[in-house]
Amino acid sequence: MRQLVFATNNRHKLDEVAAKVGDHIKLLTLEDIGCREEIPETGCTFRENASLKSHYIYDKYKLDCFGDDSGLEVDALNNEPGVYSARYAGTHGNHEANIDKVLARLAGEANRNARFHTVISLIWNGEEHFFEGIVEGTIRNERSGAKGFGYDPIFQPDGYAVTFAEMTMEEKNRISHRGRAMEQLIDFLVIGSSGH
Ligand code: IMP
Repeated sequence: MRQLVFATNNRHKLDEVAAKVGDHIKLLTLEDIGCREEIPETGCTFRENASLKSHYIYDKYKLDCFGDDSGLEVDALNNEPGVYSARYAGTHGNHEANIDKVLARLAGEANRNARFHTVISLIWNGEEHFFEGIVEGTIRNERSGAKGFGYDPIFQPDGYAVTFAEMTMEEKNRISHRGRAMEQLIDFLVIGSSGH
């Protein structure tokens, strides 16, 4: 069975992808391959950061692998927080402070349009392939819902009357940026690995 490294330490993301690839591909974690370093995320775009992650693993271990990067882009904030989504308010992963900063900067702003964006970089047989997922929506004036993570309580996807934080994980994954990018990756892998 073909093996593929997912360049992430996020167990939740790994389980999601593992469930989808089924027994076509054996997914390996960074831990499985003995990689304990922090992979640098110094790019200015999601594409650069996703590519930095996959190349870091490929250059060092010569294994098929993929990395992903995602974040929130708000039109009225010149697409911020973008690649700084996780650390917008200063501390990495302080989601409450990040939401407060977005809401404060959008106070009185009529244009609430925003999107979540994911880019995946896959290195497969030595070649790089990109997959992308976007979900358009609007930023609410205040938080609603307790599920999910990150900016979910203030993001309402187009076509829905609820925020991501009010959806079940299955509902969110069906339409989310990451879900869409992962679907494309999986289609590519399943077709590629079955020899068609
Ligand atoms: P990552 O690259 O997928 O780890 O995402 C970076 C940051 O973007 C996260 O820490 C969150 O702040 C934000 N983000 C990415 N995806 C989501 C999502 O599905 N919901 C809410 N926030 C997200």
